Amino acid sequence: MPALTVKVKRFDGKKSWWQEYKVDIKSRKISVLDVLVKIKEEQDPTLAVRYSCRMAICGSCGMVINGVPRLACQTLLAEIKDDTIAVEPMWNHRVIKDLVVDTEPNFEKLRKVKPYTIRDLKEIYESDREIGQKPEELEKYYNFAYCIECGLCMAACPVVATNPRFLGPMALAAAYRWSADSRDQGWPVRAKIVDTEEGVWSCHLAYTCSAVCPRGVDPGFAIQLVKAALMRRAKKL
Ligand code: FES
Repeated sequence: MPALTVKVKRFDGKKSWWQEYKVDIKSRKISVLDVLVKIKEEQDPTLAVRYSCRMAICGSCGMVINGVPRLACQTLLAEIKDDTIAVEPMWNHRVIKDLVVDTEPNFEKLRKVKPYTIRDLKEIYESDREIGQKPEELEKYYNFAYCIECGLCMAACPVVATNPRFLGPMALAAAYRWSADSRDQGWPVRAKIVDTEEGVWSCHLAYTCSAVCPRGVDPGFAIQLVKAALMRRAKKL
């Protein structure tokens, strides 16, 4: 099997450059993350890569692989086929070192939409019954609950690229997920946050967020559902 050529866009805090590595592989049934770890262990311990679960759950290994934002642990060499791979840090994020980016701004935006159940605590504590949910109610948000907050949607979004104030697909999809939950009473609060220029109205419907989501969450569709809910709300006001 021919050696793999891996081009990595590196950054040392001051300058950026492309570095090339040759990697011997025995099989293509390994992930891009496996290759990067192999480089780190056998050739260059200075290469910075962030990862944890290695099974597309923790959301920490997002990067741009051959021009597409993807999870390195979920991307198999067998899918790429080419013998050359170009790997760079996630777009639209400040690079800390090599492939490691600062994702804190994504989480700041996520916190703004209050990603948790908002419910009158008094009602919960004083009630002697569970707050149940029917299967058809679960269906309304279930798919959107798969988000692992990896930030790939933020890396792919052309609006995030040009307007750093835009809340972006990760937070806006969460605004839908929590508001669509029948146990939640937070929609009036979240509606005020997302019914703004930084909120859903800046979305250009590029749908690149949905195209790259490794969990099939479809944040672009979630944003459209939020817009529809806001229109219905405006009619009633
Ligand atoms: Fe956890 Fe890739 S290492 S998602």
